[in-house]
Amino acid sequence: MEMPWRSEAASGLQDGGRMLAHDAGETKAEGGLGLQFYWHDSCQVTSEVAAVAVTMSPHESGVIMAKSPINVVADLNTLLSDTYVLALKTHAAHWNVTGPSFQGLHSAFGAQYAQLTAAADILAERLRALGQPAPSGMKALLAGTTLIDAIPGNDGMLLARTLAVDHRSIAKACVEAAEKASEAHDSASSDLLVTRVEEHQKSAWMLEATSA
Ligand SMILES: [Fe+2]
Repeated sequence: MEMPWRSEAASGLQDGGRMLAHDAGETKAEGGLGLQFYWHDSCQVTSEVAAVAVTMSPHESGVIMAKSPINVVADLNTLLSDTYVLALKTHAAHWNVTGPSFQGLHSAFGAQYAQLTAAADILAERLRALGQPAPSGMKALLAGTTLIDAIPGNDGMLLARTLAVDHRSIAKACVEAAEKASEAHDSASSDLLVTRVEEHQKSAWMLEATSA
């Protein structure tokens, strides 16, 4: 017998916002602790392939289902890579900065490095909560980032402007990812990403004000 929640899970899978032709017969199911995991037979964790939904059976949980399609998972992976790379660049700026603003920039870069490291942890743990693996090491992070992975020298003003551009880029990606997560009714991911937007925009503003 077709369960209503099961049909919704199968038909709610998306690829970049496009609904896939997909039916319950193409899905596999695996249960555990009241959770049901569904995925398409050809599913892989890439931005191009379509379908992971994590859903909770209402008859077992009494909770409205939560799900996150693979495009949201792919976005979380990219944002985690970008956040980690920006943390390392900011740490490198903290170490290497020179010039008359050394003390202020050294401290500011140190504080932002700590914030970014904490944010990377939150993003990785959100992936794990969705049943996805977190990156296994630096190679995976470098493969997933959209950022240039090194700072441009040691001039304080140039460092601040460069890091601000990275923050703006990640903030924009977080806005788009939050919208996708919201459309997929993955409010936990959406809320997390909105928080990331706020923090990246604040960091960008501080860096831009410093280097204006
Ligand atoms: Fe330090």
